[in-house]
Amino acid sequence: MRVILLGAPGAGKGTQGKKIQEKTGIAVLVMGNILREAVRSNDKIGVEVSQYITKGELVPDQLVTSLIVTRLQQKDCQDKGFLLDGFPRTSEQAKSLDKEMAARKIKLDHVLYYVIPDEIAISRIIGRRICSNCDTVYHLQNNPPAKENICDVCGSKLSQREDDNPEVISKRLATYYAKTTPLLQYYEKQKLLRQIPANRPIDLIFQETLKVLGVR
Ligand code: AP5
Repeated sequence: MRVILLGAPGAGKGTQGKKIQEKTGIAVLVMGNILREAVRSNDKIGVEVSQYITKGELVPDQLVTSLIVTRLQQKDCQDKGFLLDGFPRTSEQAKSLDKEMAARKIKLDHVLYYVIPDEIAISRIIGRRICSNCDTVYHLQNNPPAKENICDVCGSKLSQREDDNPEVISKRLATYYAKTTPLLQYYEKQKLLRQIPANRPIDLIFQETLKVLGVR
């Protein structure tokens, strides 16, 4: 199965992607996590990437595409397929992905679009906390850890993403509308797009997601 998750920042792509991974064992490639890992390594690419992320701007197409294409060549993506969260985000990236898949004679099965009003997305991002060690995602009110500020999975401390502040969030939303929403039409034309209302409890969205994916 090969799947793309689309939706505004804070729509819940990462949350649903994790649950799909747990249920199906599919390889989940989270572009934001791949980029944040590059930033943590503090090498030349990481320093370049950081300049875009902290401003809420997109990292250049060529760079993100080469990172994803390299990752797609790994065995886990070939065994059970893959789920892409946060890639593609521009028409250029979508075309590059199509080319890459055509070269390997594989096709996408589903593009899921999680639909959410901006004000809900913003409140989700403001309350989000992330494990500094294993990247597990929490929310102060909607999805809190059992122990305050401590990750349920690995016991490490939680922190807030550097780009989860009001100024950068508005920039990310504006970037999303300008650069990423044209992809809705792109995949609609390919008859792959399925809308899923995302202003609902996590488990309800997950049930609908599994139904759309045809997973029992
Ligand atoms: P990225 O990390 O991908 O951020 P994003 O798209 O802005 O998405 P988010 O991670 O903010 O939200 P999400 O939809 O995953 O929501 P989540 O499940 O965490 O990208 C960051 C940056 O990297 C970009 O700005 C850009 O600079 C760069 N970048 C990334 N990809 C790129 C690309 N392809 N090209 C160029 N640059 C790129 O949920 C949010 C919160 O809500 C959590 O706290 C969660 O617990 C809670 N929550 C989730 N679902 C629900 C629910 N149903 N009800 C209540 N609360 C919920």
